[in-house]
Amino acid sequence: MTTLKPFIIGSFMLAPALAMAAEQIVVQTDSTSLVLTIGDNGRLYQSYLGKRLANPADYANLPLGTETYITHGMEDYFEPALHINHADGNPSTLLTYKNHTTERTDAGSKTVITLVDTVYGDEVELVYNTYDKENVFTTNTKITNKGKKPVEIEKFASSMLHFDRPEYYLTEYNGDWAAEVKPHTQQLHYGKKEVDTKLGTRANMFVSPFFQLGLDQPAAEDEGEVLVGTIGWTGNFRFCFEVDNLGGLRVISGINPYFSSRTLKKDESFTTPEFIFTVSGTGTGTASRNLHDWARRYRVKDGMGDRMTLLNNWEATYFDFNQDKLIDLIADAKALGVDMFLLDDGWFGNKYPRHSDTQGLGDWEETANKLPDGIGRLTEEAKKQGVKFGLWIEPEMVNPGSELYEKHKDWVITLPNREEYYFRNQLVLDLSNPAVQDYVYGVVDGLMTKYPDIAFFKWDCNSPITNIYSNYEKDEQNRLYVDYVEGLYNVLERLQAKYPNLPMMLCAGGGGRTDYEALKYFTEMWPSDNTDPIERLFIQWGYSQVFPAKVQCAHVTTWNSDAPVKFRVNVAMMGKLGFDINLHELTADELAYCKQSVKDYNAMKPCVLDGDQYRLVSPHSGNHAATEFVAKDKRSAVLFAFDVYPRYAEKVRNVVLKGLNPSLRYQVSEINRFDGKPGEVKEYSGDYLMTVGIPAFTTGKLSSRVYSIQAI
Ligand code: GLA
Repeated sequence: MTTLKPFIIGSFMLAPALAMAAEQIVVQTDSTSLVLTIGDNGRLYQSYLGKRLANPADYANLPLGTETYITHGMEDYFEPALHINHADGNPSTLLTYKNHTTERTDAGSKTVITLVDTVYGDEVELVYNTYDKENVFTTNTKITNKGKKPVEIEKFASSMLHFDRPEYYLTEYNGDWAAEVKPHTQQLHYGKKEVDTKLGTRANMFVSPFFQLGLDQPAAEDEGEVLVGTIGWTGNFRFCFEVDNLGGLRVISGINPYFSSRTLKKDESFTTPEFIFTVSGTGTGTASRNLHDWARRYRVKDGMGDRMTLLNNWEATYFDFNQDKLIDLIADAKALGVDMFLLDDGWFGNKYPRHSDTQGLGDWEETANKLPDGIGRLTEEAKKQGVKFGLWIEPEMVNPGSELYEKHKDWVITLPNREEYYFRNQLVLDLSNPAVQDYVYGVVDGLMTKYPDIAFFKWDCNSPITNIYSNYEKDEQNRLYVDYVEGLYNVLERLQAKYPNLPMMLCAGGGGRTDYEALKYFTEMWPSDNTDPIERLFIQWGYSQVFPAKVQCAHVTTWNSDAPVKFRVNVAMMGKLGFDINLHELTADELAYCKQSVKDYNAMKPCVLDGDQYRLVSPHSGNHAATEFVAKDKRSAVLFAFDVYPRYAEKVRNVVLKGLNPSLRYQVSEINRFDGKPGEVKEYSGDYLMTVGIPAFTTGKLSSRVYSIQAI
């Protein structure tokens, strides 16, 4: 190696491409450094990723490391990040450093490193954005064919990261409909482990697009080094973890290359989605809070804004409603004190009325005999009552029983010469086709133009891509999975431009779509159709690893009516609170309690939605669960404590709080009691609460308590 000259980001100027290549490129947040080194051979190596090094002079001591973005066909024997097939049949790429730029951004920095294959002209830009305070990196690549002939890109990762540690533990989150985000941890040994999906649209039905990588030990809540990563891609993704013969681990993240190779013509580029990650030396709790802060500040639509409580009619009526019933429900929403009434599935279709999930998708006109005066009558009623009105749509889908299917079979993803098979009786529209993009855009735009008082959409997506074949893609069928997602983003971009303040919920038969690229366009998501509060303790716990409470819609329903209403409400209060229940089936006491809960929730919203979340006692660890939300100034907090199924004569332990100021004194009192009475107020120091804790658990089954913690 020649003398190392660290190139440290931090200048407020755009650093021009250096005449003499800088030997090291350091990309770092306030807490984490990624050090890349240009080898004597001109290739780029990852020398370090971990806790930020205090002394820049030490970068020179780092080993060269492993090639940053390994390509197929050269001397490496394991999974590559990039595989390009050239027109002459040469399937290899050799990338060397060309130049790089670093600029300051509002949040941190942006570094773009250009690598080039000097023989074939392939160019790869490695892009790194840092969010310094939040300790979050986002990274992706742009691949450009600068050669003379078309090339085929077969593998095109967003990110490749390398680790060289004695032990690696992967925690992935998978499941199924109504059973989302179940954590599974395994030690990684020699060989490959892939976490991927091929579902296309409802892509996360079986697996969430995020993971935790415990270094030297399994990922734990409050200790140990962990990398938490997630891909911003609303379609097929793949994380590949491969341990090589020397015990090195590479982590490759990006679009799933399965059936997705594509041709790049001369000068054409392909930009991969962002891989978003944070590294924590103090466990997954810190990592989650990093991502929550980043998401609210920089990623989620209206991330710093408020969220509306709501009453949804889905579980109260399913498809069985009419105008009068809905008008009554709007009055119920008002009486309950929530901000909005949300009309779910079943309001559209005339030739094929949507009386069940067997028909009607695609025909977005009100069913005349259900809603004779249209949506307008409902928005008018909502206005009169002083609540907002939200509407369910599923615009990417079509039932074969629909006028749209009759008119535009060519817009449907379906195979020629094969009998169609259906997932939930429906098919997916071909969003790779610009005409279909216009149509899907027009569903929302048409409704908004006709009914400007619609204040919210729940955008559903109940089917994966089945019968995969596009009339539009013709002889490039393998582009469909990727082009579909880009088509969807095109629609969402256009809607965002025209309706920048329109809140929307992202839903896909529950948590089938839960990624940070989609959340640029959605204010919140529906984590699961499973609203059994016991199951939700686990589901919300799972999503909270990566997503803040603010984007997790949580509704009170009758999925488990054995659980007291208070237990159900308290679980839902840990997210974005809503009700999806027939209020008339509640007792007078239960109804009064729900009304009080809406008020209590409004008071605690700043803490829950915008504070720091501490997962105190895991539902996975036993019979109790506790979560705390602490306001940024540490002057107030709210604690939720649940007893699920305590054992006979069980010894109940204290709940020890976190994140408070040890030298402040706090008043702690139980709030949101079912009897409506104020709880006893006790005083403690922050130190005591975080060392000894309070007896927030009991031996009562399915019981719950909420505590307010206020600095004096
Ligand atoms: C999906 C959603 C539900 C509901 C139904 C309506 O299953 O996840 O919340 O909207 O569709 O058909």
